[in-house]
Amino acid sequence: MSKPVLFSGMQPTGKLHIGNYFGALKNWVELQNSGRYQCYFFVADLHSITAEFDPAQKYKQTVEVVADYIAAGISPEKSVIFVQSQIPEHSELAWVLNCITPFGELRRMTQFKDKSASQSENINIGLFDYPVLMAADVLLYDTSFVPVGDDQLQHLELTRTIARKFNSQFKKIMQEPEPLLTEVPRLMSLSDPLRKMSKSMPEGCLFLDDAPDIIRDKVKRAVTDSEAKVVYNPTKKPGVANLIRIYRGFTNLSVKEIERKYADANYGVFKRELAEVIVEGLRPFQVRKKLLMKKSGEIDRIIEKGRKKAQKKATEKMNQVKETMGLSKKVTKKLPK
Ligand code: AMP
Ligand code: TRP
Repeated sequence: MSKPVLFSGMQPTGKLHIGNYFGALKNWVELQNSGRYQCYFFVADLHSITAEFDPAQKYKQTVEVVADYIAAGISPEKSVIFVQSQIPEHSELAWVLNCITPFGELRRMTQFKDKSASQSENINIGLFDYPVLMAADVLLYDTSFVPVGDDQLQHLELTRTIARKFNSQFKKIMQEPEPLLTEVPRLMSLSDPLRKMSKSMPEGCLFLDDAPDIIRDKVKRAVTDSEAKVVYNPTKKPGVANLIRIYRGFTNLSVKEIERKYADANYGVFKRELAEVIVEGLRPFQVRKKLLMKKSGEIDRIIEKGRKKAQKKATEKMNQVKETMGLSKKVTKKLPK
């Protein structure tokens, strides 16, 4: 029996921050290294063009995300790393799935509602159709497991609905994927600890590429409270709780151990040491990424290798879909001699 397929990806919309790392990437690396899955990690560039973007930057951002994946520990030997737009079957399957997706289901998607409010000058059909393309991504590879954050659960539920609809309308060839929700810390913005750390508010982000002095400065200015006690209380002290979570992420010390260590310290001391923990914690990642970006052609080679592997699987699946739907001639199997 071959191993089940595990599939996930991120949009290339800007630099990755430590929320992306602790909330997604770190978990992907562990799943990959468990050896239990055939892993596919892709860059969702077609999804990213549903929002405003700069053509001169887009491919550079894609390359950066691939470098981030690899520097974080995703291995091109163990996993298939590829770029969505290089595999035309994603768009092709999305169209086919469009034709069995009820309009009403898509209209319920909360991400569409949120995004059409936040980019009201650009409510394009791609933004509305985003979850169907996501379903195509997942179904094209016969995926069993999709590690995602809770914000993507509704989209994955829709993917399952579409798979079932296809199976009952045509033939059972779509694997119903399951979300893999591992407990991951949600990191909050350094400048507004009541909101999650997000690229849309860069001032509150610690980016994986931030230089040591920038990290020190951002941590120093992080919003806390006036109590001056390093105690974990997310409701009363959301800023400090968030800093403790970050400390924990980089050191694996428990909350209790961190509280004890800083029982007599003021915020200045705690923040200074936290900044050093982050600088040291990010150093190996930053060194690997710099090296990778310097080796000319290395990322291109990795992307090309991934494209070939993904293409093989995508072609097979799309042929099967076309045959099943009667879009192409049945391929009659040769009888064994
Ligand atoms: P995004 O940056 O929203 O495209 O998210 C990419 C991945 O990182 C998703 O799996 C998110 O769930 C995860 N993620 C994004 N922001 C955070 C955060 N502040 N804390 C934890 N995980 C996050
Ligand atoms: N929508 C996901 C996000 O914004 C990215 C994504 C696109 C994805 N297609 C996917 C994630 C398929 C997992 C599986 O984070």
